[in-house]
Amino acid sequence: MTNIGSYADRLTNFDWSLAERELGYRKGDPINIGWYCSDRICQLGMAEKKALIWEDFHGTSKTYTFGDLRVLSNTIASYLTGLGLAPGDRICLFLDRVPELYIGFLGILKMGGIAQPLFSAFGEDSLFTRLDNAKTAAVITQRKHVAKIRKILQQLPELRHIIVIDPDGPPLREREIGFRLDQAPRVENFAVHPTTAESPSVLHYTSGTTGQPKGAQHVHYSLISQYLTAKWVLDLRPDDLYWCNADPGWVTGTSYGIIGPWSNGVTQVVLDAGFSTERWYSLIQKHRITVWYSAPTAIRLLMREGTAVARKYNLSSLRHLCSVGEPLNAEAVLWSKEAYGLQFHDTYWQTETGSIVITNVPGMPIKPGSMGRPFPGITATVVDPKTFEPIESTATVGLIALRPGWPSMFRTYWNNRVTYEGKFKNGWYICGDRASLDVDGYFWFVGRDDDVINTGGHLVGPFEIESALLEHPAVAESAAIGKPDAVNMEVVKAFVALKPGFQPSDELDLEIMNFIRKKLSPLAMPQEIEFVKSLPKTRSGKIMRRVLRAQEWGEPIGDISTLEND
Ligand code: WT7
Repeated sequence: MTNIGSYADRLTNFDWSLAERELGYRKGDPINIGWYCSDRICQLGMAEKKALIWEDFHGTSKTYTFGDLRVLSNTIASYLTGLGLAPGDRICLFLDRVPELYIGFLGILKMGGIAQPLFSAFGEDSLFTRLDNAKTAAVITQRKHVAKIRKILQQLPELRHIIVIDPDGPPLREREIGFRLDQAPRVENFAVHPTTAESPSVLHYTSGTTGQPKGAQHVHYSLISQYLTAKWVLDLRPDDLYWCNADPGWVTGTSYGIIGPWSNGVTQVVLDAGFSTERWYSLIQKHRITVWYSAPTAIRLLMREGTAVARKYNLSSLRHLCSVGEPLNAEAVLWSKEAYGLQFHDTYWQTETGSIVITNVPGMPIKPGSMGRPFPGITATVVDPKTFEPIESTATVGLIALRPGWPSMFRTYWNNRVTYEGKFKNGWYICGDRASLDVDGYFWFVGRDDDVINTGGHLVGPFEIESALLEHPAVAESAAIGKPDAVNMEVVKAFVALKPGFQPSDELDLEIMNFIRKKLSPLAMPQEIEFVKSLPKTRSGKIMRRVLRAQEWGEPIGDISTLEND
């Protein structure tokens, strides 16, 4: 028996108040995610239960109980308050996947701050754009990442504190302060800030086609969706050992790498290390992991290694597998059945939706290649791209649209109400993805409806890459697109026109790649640079990435009547 039971039954008379009741929440009560993920679990008698089993690259391991989570998040909350940080302040977590990242997230929420997690591999430009946009008041980081912050500090007058969790070494500088969680006096009791349903909780930056990344702002009430989807889709149960591959720099790593499991009182494993087939399988074997939330790129990498490697390990503890972030190809679903005796369940959602919205719930027959059906309480359809009316016929491609109003939906883009409002058409929230529906109501993903590049499940904005390319002295103009890739689905390819006096060369190629890797991130780094004389533009001077993309993918170019240089 699964937690959700019968999908059909759950659709009838579904109401989110069911999750409210399970959490003991009544409308108008304070609701604080940090409290729900630690204090409440202790109140339910699970203070001694393991919450986090953490391991790093070297095999160092640490274990924290829910009681530890409670006290240590209090300790961080109280420390932040002591620094003069106040409810509503944006506090950035710029950390590898160390315990302080997970516990700090709860601590920030407990003192009423808005948690802004950022991927620690971000370079100074990516970091600057997001800290500047959010007017972030403090950053919690590690010594090894401080140099990147120092480079941009003078342009960030609002940034008051850089909290370094491993301060040993050369003296700290301007605005930097050391804080060691394991040495700080433990704070048994902290008056959790009485945030209410609509109080801002988390700010996650995500990329679009135009402009710099936008901060999707979530609220504490998102817990209702995150708790229930973790229970019904990930099928989390009290004795589970759960593992989520995602970094909390991305929404999967917070919604289902922190809030989902812990609000359900479930033990999770965190591995602070990159992908390696052997390491991953030994982790599953060692901890007897039962529920695994992964991503298609990782699954394709495991597929490459074959089933023989999987057989070398005892993976019999696995009970339920889920995937997110990019299309899960049918072959991957079939292969996982062969390799692990279990199928991966696809889940579809976005930074903006805050929780899973279309999915294969356990027990529902999986059609390999399909994303499944709407989660109960979610009204989803496919609409015509011009009229935004639902498409009645099946198998016709349109835009995925959701009826607004589920608990974890983002409430705005930070400081960008206009773009937020532009996401709604004809009473629907438009996800920006293309799909079709079949006769059984299953969704079939087709592709994105914009120029955003999805590499290994991570969205990269072409504008951000192009802006960074223009900072390189040799680059006159540029365009960034996604190019097909067998493992990552897409990788970044850049087209570059050089300034007079510069010649294409292998050295310049490498130099530009590294320039982007350092300024933005390894993911944003172009895997290929094509030097061109000029770029296709519209008469008004806008670069037509669509033309370059169609060439790369061998697709029809479409309407180019507005093209200038043809
Ligand atoms: C975009 C959202 C959701 C957490 C991680 C990504 C693509 C997501 C699927 C899926 C096909 C998917 C979409 C979506 N995407 N899940 N199951 N099948 N595509 O969050 O960074 O906001 O990206 O990822 O294009 O819009 P995100």
